[in-house]
Amino acid sequence: MTVQSTDLEAQLDAIRQEAQQALTAADTLEQLEQLRVKYLGKKGPIPQVLGGMGKLDPADRPRIGARANEVKDAIQQDLDRRRTDLQAAQIQAQLEAETLDVTMPGVYTPQGRVHPVNAMTDRVVDIFVGLGYTDVEGPEMETDYYNFEALNFPPDHPARDMQDTLFLPDGNLLRTHTSSVQIRYMEANDPPVRIVMPGRCYRRDTVDATHTAVFHQIEFLAIDEGLTFTDLKGTIREFLTQLFGEVPIRMRPSFFPFTEPSAEVDLQWKGRWLEIMGCGMVDPNVLKSVGYDPEVYTGFAGGMGVERLAAVLHEIDDIRRLYTSDLRFLQQF
Ligand code: DAH
Repeated sequence: MTVQSTDLEAQLDAIRQEAQQALTAADTLEQLEQLRVKYLGKKGPIPQVLGGMGKLDPADRPRIGARANEVKDAIQQDLDRRRTDLQAAQIQAQLEAETLDVTMPGVYTPQGRVHPVNAMTDRVVDIFVGLGYTDVEGPEMETDYYNFEALNFPPDHPARDMQDTLFLPDGNLLRTHTSSVQIRYMEANDPPVRIVMPGRCYRRDTVDATHTAVFHQIEFLAIDEGLTFTDLKGTIREFLTQLFGEVPIRMRPSFFPFTEPSAEVDLQWKGRWLEIMGCGMVDPNVLKSVGYDPEVYTGFAGGMGVERLAAVLHEIDDIRRLYTSDLRFLQQF
């Protein structure tokens, strides 16, 4: 039995029509892929139809072959068009689902800032680091040895009194100054030394406008061959100029067990002389206590209260304000 070429053409047209309808109806990319396999795959209907060509009049074969290719191309085009549409629709749906309403109020994130005590500490440490000093810290819980004895405090010195120092039940104490860090550092390092030591300190003080039981100090220490009082004065001059600008300063004789001679430094600020730090030439006994030879090495040291510096610079009348966590106050700095 011979096959009429018109039968095959009709079959091809039917395939084309069926595929077109199916593709139009597909509404997901997965369905589209299934239809591609169904209509254009090797096991699809077109190869099947072409399998019937053997029974055709040879003269008709090229025409049917060409027709089969046309149908294949047409289905491929429908497929591509539908795929483009579906992809666009998918992107559009995604855009709609993820749309931002830019008129909605934002989420308020409060902006933190550095506490004035920490900001002042950073400034002071930065200045000393700029002068070649290294930033060093030590423990807040100390022994009597590091806080007093190695710093040349006599056993009956009033600072050791229960009135001033917070002792712990085990006989240790909360350091009353950062000078203890000097000893720890010198014990562990050979001269020359140039260090700056910020840290929290504790005293059994009655809290008032100029005292808090917990406060902050910054200590500096330089040990080398041939350091003199002139070096101390020049260092303080440079430091205070960087912090306060060109202000008048003066040094008054004072006393500390760990320095000899000792001095108090004042600066003139808004028309008043304000005491700003203690300082002096490191006492030979302190150098001996850490194993430095006082015949070879000399040095100077100084210590200042950070709250005090902040109070002077920012004209704060009561340093307790620094610790009441009142943001209206703290946000000014
Ligand atoms: N430690 C002293 C205090 O708490 C401050 C001080 C004075 C430190 C003189 C020093 C210094 O290094 O040389 O009042």
